[in-house]
Amino acid sequence: MATLFDPLSLRDLTLRNRIVVSPMQQYSSENGGANDWHLVHLGSRAVGGAGLIITESTAVTPEGRSTHRDMGLWDDAQAEPWRRINAFVHGQGARIAVQLGHFGSKGSRSHPNEGLTYLSPAEGGWQTVSSSAVAPFPGMSLPRPLTIAEIQTTIAQFGLAAQRAVAAGFDAIELHGAHGYLIHQFYSELINQRTDAYGGSFANRTRFAREVVAQIRRVIPDRMPLLVRISAVDYVDDPKGWTLEQAVALAQELKAGGVDLITASAGGFVFLDKSKVRPGYQVSFATEIRTKAGLPTGAVGLITAPDAANDIIEGDKADLVVIAREHLRDPYFATHAAVALRQTPAVPFQSHRAYW
Ligand SMILES: Cc1cc2nc3c(=O)[nH]c(=O)nc-3n(C[C@H](O)[C@H](O)[C@H](O)COP(=O)(O)O)c2cc1C
Repeated sequence: MATLFDPLSLRDLTLRNRIVVSPMQQYSSENGGANDWHLVHLGSRAVGGAGLIITESTAVTPEGRSTHRDMGLWDDAQAEPWRRINAFVHGQGARIAVQLGHFGSKGSRSHPNEGLTYLSPAEGGWQTVSSSAVAPFPGMSLPRPLTIAEIQTTIAQFGLAAQRAVAAGFDAIELHGAHGYLIHQFYSELINQRTDAYGGSFANRTRFAREVVAQIRRVIPDRMPLLVRISAVDYVDDPKGWTLEQAVALAQELKAGGVDLITASAGGFVFLDKSKVRPGYQVSFATEIRTKAGLPTGAVGLITAPDAANDIIEGDKADLVVIAREHLRDPYFATHAAVALRQTPAVPFQSHRAYW
């Protein structure tokens, strides 16, 4: 039986424990570049004992950003600052994955300090794109459907960003296929109304996800794990809504395409009723996908307590525990969890006197 502080290997990557810093946008980049904020933010979570750190969603093209201050890897120069950050994280015994994403119709927004409101091109935003001319939320401006040629270009851009990530010293790639963003805008019938090879049937709607995975797998080394975050359900009572059965079927396809782990998140086109957001509310999705699709999964969503995190691993409910907001409150979550669970914390030598 595995516990929270047992290592996990995916291909040639071994994580020192099962605690993951979930991707969290920082809206602190200039021209898509990482800077001292990211070194300190991610570096302190590495010092704090996490096994794997996943960067915020990192755009593969400028139009794939949510705001002007998103992270990006659409340019070789953007790989450069990551070398230092990744070396620091490695020096602390943690490993780091980049989350590659494209916001599609949810892009072109103001900075959170200005309300994260949608910006038209006239207001300094840009024309958003999607699978179809369907707004992700009612009342939002309509995206432009990608042409087949543009879909191919976007797939290639994911591959180029993955190559830059390899050069920058990342240990793994995570593809952001959840939360109502571009990949989800293709696989959910709520949005996808295409009548070509990328719309209609399940196979067609998931084609974009599968082709992006294939392209990334083609350009990264065999030894490097590829993770994918998906939405397990759309949380809507609509026959067109994405279901857990479909998520399991997609996970099976992605596994066949060389994906090593799926993190099971959910939603993206509706605001979830807060009463449903209880501790561990999405864990069952990770368990179902793990059991039925037969590949390792990460559980995410309101996991804040060391005992609860350990129960997920000990109970065979998931292989990784992916924690976002608790890591904002406590960069040392993993260290504190180790103490609470009577394990030896992975503290740097500079801090030994606090523990021994
Ligand atoms: C500030 C913030 C930024 C986020 N940015 C991303 C992101 O870039 N990519 C992503 O997949 N999820 C993102 N999320 C979602 C989290 O990774 C996580 O799935 C969600 O917060 C639920 O986990 P938690 O209850 O542990 O916070 C973000 C969440 C927060 C709070």
